[in-house]
Amino acid sequence: MLSDAEQVPLIETVVTTTGSDGVVNCAAMGVRWGEEELAFWPFDATRTLRNLRLHGEAVVHLTDDVLLFVQAALGHPRPAMRPATAIAGAVIEEVNAWREVVVTQIDADPDHPNRSRVRARVVAAGTGTRPPLGLCRARHAAVEASILASRLKWLGAEHVQAELARLQELVDKTAGPLERAAMDYVRRHVAERT
Ligand SMILES: Cc1cc2nc3c(=O)[nH]c(=O)nc-3n(C[C@H](O)[C@H](O)[C@H](O)COP(=O)(O)O)c2cc1C
Repeated sequence: MLSDAEQVPLIETVVTTTGSDGVVNCAAMGVRWGEEELAFWPFDATRTLRNLRLHGEAVVHLTDDVLLFVQAALGHPRPAMRPATAIAGAVIEEVNAWREVVVTQIDADPDHPNRSRVRARVVAAGTGTRPPLGLCRARHAAVEASILASRLKWLGAEHVQAELARLQELVDKTAGPLERAAMDYVRRHVAERT
């Protein structure tokens, strides 16, 4: 039986959390996007989970800036940010929308080994300076490429390179500069590790 949070799609987001040193961390994360409650599943080893256990607050951003998204999945981007309004968190300026959330529960989830399930209540929300552009095959290709790159150790270089070549065709057909830059970022990340 699906919980309320699971009646909504899993949306790929960028989550900001704050560490004990005050540094804001940006992480790409799939989030069940409810109106009043969100649920997400950070891996146990992530900074995101560590920071959530410490402060219990986050800002979850919707963005079609796929370069920011892949950097948040594979690196440590530092986009322009401002203080959140209802929590001690950071809102990324150039996004489509965001939600400030307070953690209500962190527990184990037998369906997701090595991860914890985080449930969080929405306490503030807003729209950002970036108007949403809608569906784009190149953008989705870059998102898929980034998840393959983030699983390089498990999937193996040969499989990942073959999939990247297939996804590159979509980028070549439909990308603008941002999508090309995102795919290049992913390919560099993989090339440096194979
Ligand atoms: C499409 C996509 C979805 C992801 N979803 C998750 C997720 O649900 N949970 C998670 O821990 N990491 C997820 N990741 C990987 C994180 O973005 C990556 O491990 C990141 O470095 C987070 O770690 P940090 O909190 O230590 O910065 C995802 C990556 C991609 C490309």
